[in-house]
Amino acid sequence: MKKATMILDKDYIIGRVDPRIYGSFIEHLGRAVYGGIYEPDHPTADKNGFRQDVIEKVRELGIPVVRYPGGNFVSGFNWEDSIGPREQRPKRLDLAWMTTETNEVGLHEFVEWAKKADTEVMYAVNLGTRGADAARNVVEYCNHKSGSYWSDLRIKNGAKKPFDIKLWCLGNEMDGPWQMGQKTAYEYGRTANEAAKMMKWVDPTIELVACGSCAHDMPTFGSWEYEVLNECYSNVDYVSLHRYYGNPTGDTPGFLARSMDLDDFIKEVIAICDAVKGKKHAKKKLNLSFDEWNVWYHSNEQDREIQKADKWGRALPLLEDIYNFEDALLAGAILITFLKNADRVKVACLAQLVNVIAPIMTRNGGGVWAQTIFYPMMHASRYGRGTALRAIMSSPTYDCKDYEKVPVTDGTAVMGDDGSVTIFAVNRDMEESVSLECDLRAFGDMKILEHIVLHHDDVKAVNTEENPGEVAPRKVRGGRTDGGRMTVKLPALSWNVIRLGKE
Ligand code: AHR
Repeated sequence: MKKATMILDKDYIIGRVDPRIYGSFIEHLGRAVYGGIYEPDHPTADKNGFRQDVIEKVRELGIPVVRYPGGNFVSGFNWEDSIGPREQRPKRLDLAWMTTETNEVGLHEFVEWAKKADTEVMYAVNLGTRGADAARNVVEYCNHKSGSYWSDLRIKNGAKKPFDIKLWCLGNEMDGPWQMGQKTAYEYGRTANEAAKMMKWVDPTIELVACGSCAHDMPTFGSWEYEVLNECYSNVDYVSLHRYYGNPTGDTPGFLARSMDLDDFIKEVIAICDAVKGKKHAKKKLNLSFDEWNVWYHSNEQDREIQKADKWGRALPLLEDIYNFEDALLAGAILITFLKNADRVKVACLAQLVNVIAPIMTRNGGGVWAQTIFYPMMHASRYGRGTALRAIMSSPTYDCKDYEKVPVTDGTAVMGDDGSVTIFAVNRDMEESVSLECDLRAFGDMKILEHIVLHHDDVKAVNTEENPGEVAPRKVRGGRTDGGRMTVKLPALSWNVIRLGKE
C-alpha cells in the first residue's frame, strides 16, 4: 500500500476559515429559480411558492451566503423590474441565455427565501448595461432605513425593515465577450470605482467585490486584475475569481489534478493584489472572492439543442449537468485548496445551487435529490469551520498531461473551536489505497470519532431521482490512533473526512 504522511500542530496555522467559503449561487437561469427553489404548484410549496423540500436540502448543505441574481444574467438586468406588485412586473428578454425572464420571483421574494434557507444574500449589481446610479439606488432600496425615495418604496412594497445586505458584487465577468456591456480593464475599473464609492456612501458597512477576469485561461487574465485594481483598489474589498473544469476526454488522473491549476490561479491573483498594494503604498490587503467554481461540461451539447429549439423560452432545463463520482472528487480537492488558502480566500460560491450546474436537483412536480458533488460540499461546510491548519504533507506523486508531481494524496485540516480536528483528504490513485499516517502529538490524546468515505468503483456513477443513493458517503472503521499518531486507510479514488476529538 502507498503511504502518505501529515504533520499537524496547533501552532501551524493558516488563518480563520471564513464560513462564506461555503457559499453558493443562484442565477435567473434555467430551472434554478423557476422549477428549482420556486414552484407554486408543487405539493411542498409554501404560501410564497417556495419548495420546502428544496429548502431542506439547502439547509442540509449548510450554505452561509448565496450570490444572486447572476451571473451573466445580471449584466442586462433592471433591478427595478423585480420589485412591486408581481402582476405589474415586466417580462424581459434575457440576452445572456436567450430566454424570457418573467420577474415573478424578485428581490423581496429572494430575500424571504434566503431567510427560510438560513443563508445571507450576496447581491450583484449590473455594471454591464447599467452603472453607478442604478447601483447606488439598489443599495438605498435594500439597506437604508427610511425617509428617502427608494427606502420608502421598499417599505411601501411590504418590507419595513431594511434587508441589510452586506456583500455586493460589482458586475459579473466584465472582460468576457459574451457579457452584455463588456468593458476594457480601464473602463471597468473606473466604473467599478465610481459605483463602489457611491454604494459605500449610501451604506459604509457593505463589502464590495470587484470583477477579476472570467477565468485563469482568459487572454486578459493578469493584466485585467492589475489594471482594474489600479483604478478601484481603495474602494473595494475583494477581487473575484471564476473557474470551471471539465473532463471531455475521459482523462481521470489529469482531471483530478485540476486543483493544481486552481491553486496557481489563487496564488497569482494574491500576487497581483499585493503588487497593486505595494504600488499604491496601501495599508489595506485585498482578499479573494472565488464566487464561481465547479465542474461544467456535461450539459454543453444538450444546451445548444435546447436553445435552438426554444429560443426565448421560460425556465428551460439549461446547464443541467449530471455529476458523476469523479466530479465529487475534484470538488473535494477544490475545497481542500480553498482551505489551504484560507488566509486570503474569504468567499467562495459553488456555482450553482439548484438544477443549474448544481449539487441539488429537482423534477418539476416531483422529487429533490443530491448529486455527487453535494457531499464534499456538505462535509466541508459542516466540519471545516474554525482555524485552517497548515498541514505538512508528503505523498507519492504522479505526472499527467498538464502537471508534474501531482500528489496522489491531497489533504488539509481544520481545528474546530471546541478543540476537535477534522482532516479532509482525497486519494487520487486509480488503483491503490493509501495509508495516511498523521502526527497529531501536539493535540494530546486524540481519538478518531468518525471516518467518512465517499467512494464508488465506477468514476462515472451518478445519482438519479430513482437511485439517489448510488454515490453516497459511508462511515468506515479500521483507523487507529496510538500515542498521538493516527493511521487510516484512504481507499483508491476516495474523498475522506476524518474527525478527531478527545472522546
Ligand atoms: O454559472 C454560469 C455562468 O458562468 C455565469 O452566469 C457566468 O458568470 C459564468 O460564465
